[in-house]
Amino acid sequence: MQKKFLPLKIKVFELIFCMTSEKITNRFQTAQVLIREAGILAHEWFRNRSALIVEKKGEHDWVSEADHAVEKFIKKKLGLMFPKDGFFGEESGFLDQKNSGIWVVDPIDGTTCFLKGLYSWCVSIAFVVNNKIEIGLIYAPCSDELFAVQRGNGATLNGKPIKSSNAKSLSEGIVAIGYSPKQSIVATKKAFEFLLNEGAVFHEIGSAALMIAYVAAGRYIGFYEFHLNSWDCLAGIALVKETGGWANDFLSNNGLHKGNSVLVSAPGTKKAMLRLFSYAGHKI
Ligand code: IPD
Ligand code: CA
Ligand code: CA
Repeated sequence: MQKKFLPLKIKVFELIFCMTSEKITNRFQTAQVLIREAGILAHEWFRNRSALIVEKKGEHDWVSEADHAVEKFIKKKLGLMFPKDGFFGEESGFLDQKNSGIWVVDPIDGTTCFLKGLYSWCVSIAFVVNNKIEIGLIYAPCSDELFAVQRGNGATLNGKPIKSSNAKSLSEGIVAIGYSPKQSIVATKKAFEFLLNEGAVFHEIGSAALMIAYVAAGRYIGFYEFHLNSWDCLAGIALVKETGGWANDFLSNNGLHKGNSVLVSAPGTKKAMLRLFSYAGHKI
């Protein structure tokens, strides 16, 4: 049906609630400014981290005043600019709104690194519409690196285009593996075993979001973690897909709310990473 023949009611509904590409571009531009502001705020807390109040959420799972404050800042700003958008943050949970779009936010990914004075942590913001990741932003304040993608428009690092690695085998680069005590020990051990047998090298830098962004930027050639939540990985997955890389279907089976396993790769390492996935016990 051509748009000009749509009944008036539907047209009005479209204008108010539908997420047109102009609306997504507007959000992309706004969120790039916002994530840098949030990163600066987080970095102020980082410099004064010895004074932070820290709570334990679980084994090796911490949350600090900084996580809460940064999420509150992002949520408030997005709420003022886009009051009808949904919001899903690690610290404050799910807020459903009228629009089809939802912001998925990890205020600090890599909290353990942040609290220990290590540099590998970041702010991660994704925007999802009808189960598609339209926007992915990851900002690492310690290196002043902003990874940004609006689906279909290319991915950038500080404004310059990025591309995933052209490695063809796992021995041609570094594979990242995420681990925290909530993961399956059996699956993670298998993943490490697989990489060692393949003659591959692995890293675990404590921030899943950053490790996935590094696959998008060609620094790593693959990433695996047994289970992540959507706020940890959606922005990274959008980046990887845009740079020619491959990612499993994280949003299937209600991944947005329940999380999922994550496997991403450069185009030439997809087959090998799928063998790793299968070796770790996943169905492919
Ligand atoms: C964690 C980091 C870590 C991953 C964990 C996540 P947090 O997020 O992404 O790399 O291994 O599974 O929970 O707690 O630092 O936001
Ligand atoms: Ca996280
Ligand atoms: Ca976090």
